[in-house]
Amino acid sequence: MIRIFEPNLNGNTRLYLNQCLDENWISSQGRFVAQFEKHMARNTLGNAVSTSNGTVALHLALLALGVKKNDEVIVPNITFGATLNAILYIGAIPVIVDVDEQTWNINLEKVKAVLNDRTKAIITVCLFGNPSGIEAVTKLAKEKKIYCIVDAAQAVGAKIFNRDIGNWGDAVTYSYFGNKVITTGEGGGIIFNSSKIADKARVLRDHGMAPGRRYHHEVVGYNYRMTNLQAAVGVAQYEIIDILLAKRLITLQFYQSELQHHDISFQHIEPDCFSSNWVVAIRVTPHIRERIEKNFAASSIEYRRCFEPMNIQPAFEACRKQNNYDLSACLYKELLLLPAHPNLSESDLKKVTRNIKQSMKIE
Ligand SMILES: Cc1ncc(COP(=O)(O)O)c(C=O)c1O
Repeated sequence: MIRIFEPNLNGNTRLYLNQCLDENWISSQGRFVAQFEKHMARNTLGNAVSTSNGTVALHLALLALGVKKNDEVIVPNITFGATLNAILYIGAIPVIVDVDEQTWNINLEKVKAVLNDRTKAIITVCLFGNPSGIEAVTKLAKEKKIYCIVDAAQAVGAKIFNRDIGNWGDAVTYSYFGNKVITTGEGGGIIFNSSKIADKARVLRDHGMAPGRRYHHEVVGYNYRMTNLQAAVGVAQYEIIDILLAKRLITLQFYQSELQHHDISFQHIEPDCFSSNWVVAIRVTPHIRERIEKNFAASSIEYRRCFEPMNIQPAFEACRKQNNYDLSACLYKELLLLPAHPNLSESDLKKVTRNIKQSMKIE
């Protein structure tokens, strides 16, 4: 079976986990948590706050930035539902806009069309790890004096102008779930551009307790902390992230060179952008997609379809919407997500492309 996602736990994972056991420290506030946050902060704006997963990272970022009930937060129509759930936890209103034809990330013109006095923030998502178009969103947010949160759950290690994704936006959130670019099992984190807001997030993350005053609750808080066990895995993952990202890039290049055909298109990655290539998505007609899916199933190749667009989800019915989501509707029918994890061998990749070519009758 060729899996769509697989973690790669090479390196010091076992050693560091054993150290947690030997030192008898498995819960939060262990030494690996501090080390993990140092890794997170490297080459970014700094101010790293680890969390127990990527969904609460978004929630905590919104809370720390001061987003309140009934504020509007603009989001792309193609994302994982957690992006919207986090906004709804606060009682704020997700405003759903369509995505861009080329990059499949949030469409800047559509964002401009929904801005108003109630807009407090934009959450822009690096879909499939691609940070294209994010810089323009951060610029617009600055100009309009609203916050920009970059949901980089799928994009740890992505870069814009050779600068890590953790340099873009007022807050950049990550997921370290088992299927992500690097993992801590479950896990997440935030990079803030303000140390003051990061401090606020740390208090909220730790039951609302004031630093240095245990059991004194300054504000209503949460337990959103990462454990030492998670962080130990995460430190080992950060030590090998460059190898894992390089492997994913080679995989993208392989797919692109093998699948040059007028009926197949790839997500556009702007020349100044480096994607983490969480998955490689191809766009084909619904009829071709069905044929590929049948072949994949028969050959034990796992695949995914695109996320179901947010505008048609029952849970998000009450969100503010635009009239038209034509592009998301097409992508939902036409995208096929291919495996890009670093454990794939050359023969696995050849098997995937051979199957696609056979489905399309390409030699
Ligand atoms: C775009 C996006 N945002 C947020 C999340 C939530 O992250 P987690 O699963 O760690 O809670 C995910 C996870 O898949 C995601 O893809």
